[in-house]
Amino acid sequence: MEDNKRLNIVITAGPTQEPIDIVRFITNSSTGTFGYMIAQVAKEKGHNVILVSGPTSVKLPDYIEAVQIRTAGQMYETVKRNFYDCDVLIMAAAVCDFRPKQPLVTGKIKKEEGIPILELERTPDTLERLSRIKENQIMVGFALEVSELEEKAKEKLKKKKLDLVIANKISSSVSPFGEKNVDVIIIDKDEKTNPYSDISKKELAAVIVDKVEALSCKGQKIS
Ligand code: CTP
Repeated sequence: MEDNKRLNIVITAGPTQEPIDIVRFITNSSTGTFGYMIAQVAKEKGHNVILVSGPTSVKLPDYIEAVQIRTAGQMYETVKRNFYDCDVLIMAAAVCDFRPKQPLVTGKIKKEEGIPILELERTPDTLERLSRIKENQIMVGFALEVSELEEKAKEKLKKKKLDLVIANKISSSVSPFGEKNVDVIIIDKDEKTNPYSDISKKELAAVIVDKVEALSCKGQKIS
């Protein structure tokens, strides 16, 4: 790939874990598969990729630089550190929206002490915070919705000033997790909607990388 087309892409993947005590935590369902696939596709196309990953058991090829994090707070700090120099941020991670307000950071809650009542607080929203300071970075987010998929995904697109949102439907019988084909809609910032039905995650990863290439200033300068 020519240097002037090569993009610096930060991709997040996997869940975050928010500690309750030293052995317990709150997390989200996510295998990390999809974020890792996007990282592989982007790298294989010649882009510079930094993968920021929550805890997963997905194997990653050595040629991808990965920063391992655990919590939503660490996710935010790590992405922010790499944000100024990036052209594209793809937030495929399933970041926990809430965390225990007062985790027991050095101990373990004992049963004898009774049933704990957890007070939760919001975690930093990486996409939302970085959308406030963004310059020319292309920002891609995901939306997982149980109903009114398109409307809610469009709300997220506007609220987080995204260039693209990939919207997935989830219900008790339909789950997008793991290595399986999915039905998604991709909405761009002009609210143009493209549906993709029964598409493999590898193919979808390629569609997303193609779209960010087309959106990037670097790509436009060349073509
Ligand atoms: N996200 C983030 N920081 C968070 C939470 C989410 O950057 N603390 C990102 C995710 O990686 C994803 C998008 O924001 O790209 C999802 O937006 P969000 O509003 O959190 O959607 P849901 O997780 O579906 O939450 P809600 O229950 O509010 O619909």
